[in-house]
Amino acid sequence: MTAMTTAMTMATTQELAWGRHYVMVEPTHFRVDYAINPFMDPSVQPDPARALDQWHTLVATLRGLGARVDVLEQRPDAPDMVYAMNLGLGLVRPSGSHVVLSHMRYPQRRMETGTAAAWFADHGHTTSYVGRDGVGAHLEAGDAFAFRGDLVVGYGPRTEKLALKHLATDLGVRVRGFRIAHPGMYHLDLAFCPLDERRALVCPDAFDGPSAAALLDLVPEPLVLSEAEALTTFCANSVVVGSTVVMPGCPDRVRARLEHWGFEVVVVDTSEFHLGGGSVRCLTNPIDITLGRDLDVRPFGEVVLPPA
Ligand code: ARG
Repeated sequence: MTAMTTAMTMATTQELAWGRHYVMVEPTHFRVDYAINPFMDPSVQPDPARALDQWHTLVATLRGLGARVDVLEQRPDAPDMVYAMNLGLGLVRPSGSHVVLSHMRYPQRRMETGTAAAWFADHGHTTSYVGRDGVGAHLEAGDAFAFRGDLVVGYGPRTEKLALKHLATDLGVRVRGFRIAHPGMYHLDLAFCPLDERRALVCPDAFDGPSAAALLDLVPEPLVLSEAEALTTFCANSVVVGSTVVMPGCPDRVRARLEHWGFEVVVVDTSEFHLGGGSVRCLTNPIDITLGRDLDVRPFGEVVLPPA
């Protein structure tokens, strides 16, 4: 291959169109008050100043890459609200911006939704629910990402299978469900990260056998992560802005593959937030996934599940 064709191959990497507009929550009341995932231990508290500093570096990094970041204030009584990814699933529809608000599995986080609902409404988004206040299906938005025209949703530890039907019919999209079976990768975004139209980071150990196989089948060029890589570096919990991958850490092997594919890796230390069980992706919520562009329109919706 000549230098010219190599350059052309890189330039034709099909960048994700979404991931350029985020909502984040400034960590002014970030604490570990309870344990709802295996990383949390209330006897080990984050350093507030360092957490704030890491968060500001992440915001500056995303803005430096040309992304828009809107900021919500944190409720003093909601220490996990900093993980903005879980506030809701934001979408751009022909009628305007819409957010399907999360219905958190654990009551400790449910008050976040009320604040998010008001903020989104004030900022021009319509909102809906698949369940709320403990009634109906649980949905946590860290379990849902657009990939190759479909909504890929992890279910099990947090999001319930029933939520997939609601999402498919309410939004008019095809939902592909994958059952998460690993307690440490309790959200999809700890084990799966779309990189471009053909590539994604995937940690198969997060899923049961049929779901792992089906997810690997869906991704034409997966970058397969080991359980240790996913759990110790949180490297699947990354965000992609164009051809830049913003990561909390990146094993050399993973970096080599990403760079070979033409991505630039930027590492931002979010270690304080690992104490609550979340990292770069959890701190950011992309609200520019667009129906008809990133998600194919299927008027009556469709749910595809792996064999039981
Ligand atoms: N402590 C939070 C919880 O357990 C962490 C959320 C991490 N967010 C994510 N999108 N994975 O809910």
